[in-house]
Amino acid sequence: MVRLKIQGGISLHGEVEISGAKNAALPIMAACLLTRERVQLHGVPRTTDVDMMVQVLQHLGMETNWVEAHTLVLRVVDDRGHTVPADCIEAMRASVCALGPLLARRGAGHLSKPGGCRIGARPIDAHLKGLRALGAKIVETDTTVTGSARELIGSEVDMSVPSGSTVLGTANVLSAAVLARGRTTIEHAAREPEICELAGFLNSMGAFIHGIGTGRLVIDGVRELHGTSFDIIPDRIETGTYLVAGAITGGDVLVRDAHPEHLGAVLQVLTSMGVELTEEAGGVRVRGNERFRRTDIVTESYPGFPTDMQAQVMALMCLAQGTSTVTERIFPERFKHVAELRRMGARIQSDGARVEITGVEDLAGVEVTASDLRASAALVLAGLAARGTTMVNEVEYIHRGYERIAEKLRGLGAAITEVA
Ligand code: EPZ
Repeated sequence: MVRLKIQGGISLHGEVEISGAKNAALPIMAACLLTRERVQLHGVPRTTDVDMMVQVLQHLGMETNWVEAHTLVLRVVDDRGHTVPADCIEAMRASVCALGPLLARRGAGHLSKPGGCRIGARPIDAHLKGLRALGAKIVETDTTVTGSARELIGSEVDMSVPSGSTVLGTANVLSAAVLARGRTTIEHAAREPEICELAGFLNSMGAFIHGIGTGRLVIDGVRELHGTSFDIIPDRIETGTYLVAGAITGGDVLVRDAHPEHLGAVLQVLTSMGVELTEEAGGVRVRGNERFRRTDIVTESYPGFPTDMQAQVMALMCLAQGTSTVTERIFPERFKHVAELRRMGARIQSDGARVEITGVEDLAGVEVTASDLRASAALVLAGLAARGTTMVNEVEYIHRGYERIAEKLRGLGAAITEVA
């Protein structure tokens, strides 16, 4: 088991390069199933989630080649398969977004239902409702989903879920509707930048999607989609994570290739805490201060505060003056990092989907265990600021969504190494 060893108390300085957005790359890679022609993707992050999606696509008859460090070429060579491997779904829930393209292009799709994970139940009912609205016949058992569709027909689809909209649900239905006969409208579509990128990618293949960035997408189906070459946007959550790293260590860091327009709610919260942020040279510069002010966050669908930044900002709140609150509206159980932060000396009261964090003078480095991708990022951030040495166990979680994180942090002066 690989662990991260962090010597805390060092202010980070310098520049860090942001990798491509994992949550844009995954649905875009799955959408490559929609054509027999060659697709070239630039700026693909080298993370284990991307490796897992490569495995899914290879199993589904796709040839994949890394022609450069971050450039992936994909091409379907055998389109007879339609089963997403169960172990891939188990390892990475996002494999579910192969279902829409399989139904649209091959007329059939089969997968085991993604189980819950450390952040919640993770149902796919809205995915299946949307695909059924397009005319797919979906048969469910307790553990599997089997879909078939001689032809998909455009329809009115509503993607709303209790917390707002569903990101991968929108991706699944959008990736099917582009080859459906006639017009589809998707109400309450997710507006996340990663979904806008997927829509842009599909349009670059010859799809007709209108209303990108709004909650209402209108798709006029086509018969065929062609190959394309496409750049993946920088990862806004990785950007936010490095901004917190610069702030929590009282440093001065330029996060390059950042798209501040994708991070409005996060930049607003950090600024309200007293973090100094300036847009500069195609990125964002962050300067930390001695102490930070308290604040309150409520996670929501985009453009609200992203649930994927909740744990990281909580690490900063642990050292802020006063009592902050975090209310998790997307994944109410996404607080596995709380117990570990408490073990580092944080003062956190939890009450269901809401926690109160009372800032302390400093945190102490101890051995902590990660439990999901963003919780592990929060523990690394806390370790960077803590007195003494922090060991973060089960670091494979962090490799799912952060490319070369130890190397990038060392490039900013952090004392962090991966140890067996
Ligand atoms: C995507 O997951 C992201 N993953 C998650 O990022 C992110 O936390 C999440 O969106 C919310 O922004 C990828 O893009 C690969 P949802 P997704 O469907 O699409 C409920 C990370 O850290 N829901 O938008 O699976 C669901 O329970 C990961 O990078 C239904 O009720 O999330 C949740 O409460 C973690 N029925 C809410 O919607 C459904 O059919 C939002 O989930 C689907 C979802």
